[in-house]
Amino acid sequence: MSLKSIQKKLEYTKYVVGEQLCYYEPSRNKSQNTLVQELSSSLNKKQKSINPKFFYDKKGSQLFEQICKLPEYYLTRTEISILTQLYEKLPPHLNGDFRLVELGSGSSKKTRTLISILERLQKHVEYFPIDISKILRDSSKKLRDDYENLHITGIIDSYESGLEFIKNYDNKKNLIVFLGSSFGNFDYENGLEFLQKINSSMKKDDLFLIGLDLVKDKRVLERAYNDSQGVTAKFNLNVLSRINSELGSNFNINKFVHHAIYNESQNRVEIYLRSLENQIVNIPKARMILQIKQDELIHTENSYKYTIPEINKMLSMTGFRIKDIWYDEKQYFCLVLLSKND
Ligand SMILES: C[S@@+](CC[C@H](N)C(=O)[O-])C[C@H]1O[C@@H](n2cnc3c(N)ncnc32)[C@H](O)[C@@H]1O
Repeated sequence: MSLKSIQKKLEYTKYVVGEQLCYYEPSRNKSQNTLVQELSSSLNKKQKSINPKFFYDKKGSQLFEQICKLPEYYLTRTEISILTQLYEKLPPHLNGDFRLVELGSGSSKKTRTLISILERLQKHVEYFPIDISKILRDSSKKLRDDYENLHITGIIDSYESGLEFIKNYDNKKNLIVFLGSSFGNFDYENGLEFLQKINSSMKKDDLFLIGLDLVKDKRVLERAYNDSQGVTAKFNLNVLSRINSELGSNFNINKFVHHAIYNESQNRVEIYLRSLENQIVNIPKARMILQIKQDELIHTENSYKYTIPEINKMLSMTGFRIKDIWYDEKQYFCLVLLSKND
């Protein structure tokens, strides 16, 4: 499929911000329809839920940046400490020029290490951030201002659509990265399906680098998602404010509280919004009237933690070969470098 037809299929408009930067974005209508369709189904189930991708409106992305700086949120600084090791450890795996493709790029702060590594090895660096949040516009502008030889093509859309776009783009080699343990938001089956999707969008010599959070002491995990300053609670509650502003609903965020627990039998942190009273919420644009009971939980996120045998199994089942695996000092987190297994 040509680039023009994939752009049409995904309903993207291309915005050119200058020689070094452009981005593709679907219409506001398409994004709003997705929100309406998904909520109409997920809030109508017995276990009400909201997909975590809806956390990330402008405010949600800002709050996530604050979470990354919290003392309890070990994930960001730990993954950065491993990325720093890659100055030495990644280049031996890179044979020839690579384009950097990032799923869920967010602020792109961690990506700077990878861009710097590629900059030392090749004349030009092409970066394709894919993120559902409009934060991509600002983070890309900051990168463009800081790197002379960087060309950025952003895709403000879901991982899946971004991958479809990339798959049809051209024949250059891609280093696809998926950091921040965002993969942990997928349930087991959906996670396998997503890994297969990544695998099938890769060409023979492409590489894939994924950041995964490892099983560890329950207290460390629960603290990370229940910080003392209440930023994670604000982040969780903000999804209701977002739905209010985009779909005209009347969620009263003072009638919900943040609830995060580690489920040891499933190796996952589960995050919910707990209703403080019986309440009725109207979501006009989704034509929904929700009855929510006192203490009822709306599920907003799972964050799976993995063991090394599980990681090996998942990746080999989905057609990957592990080229290398790197850890931090405490073995809290790992970065796994993969190629296609054929
Ligand atoms: C946990 S943050 C990680 C950000 C950054 N990679 C990091 O490691 O700090 C997840 C990022 O992925 C984006 N995101 C979440 N779900 C997404 C989806 N389904 N498709 C595309 N982007 C998504 C969010 O907007 C957010 O910027």
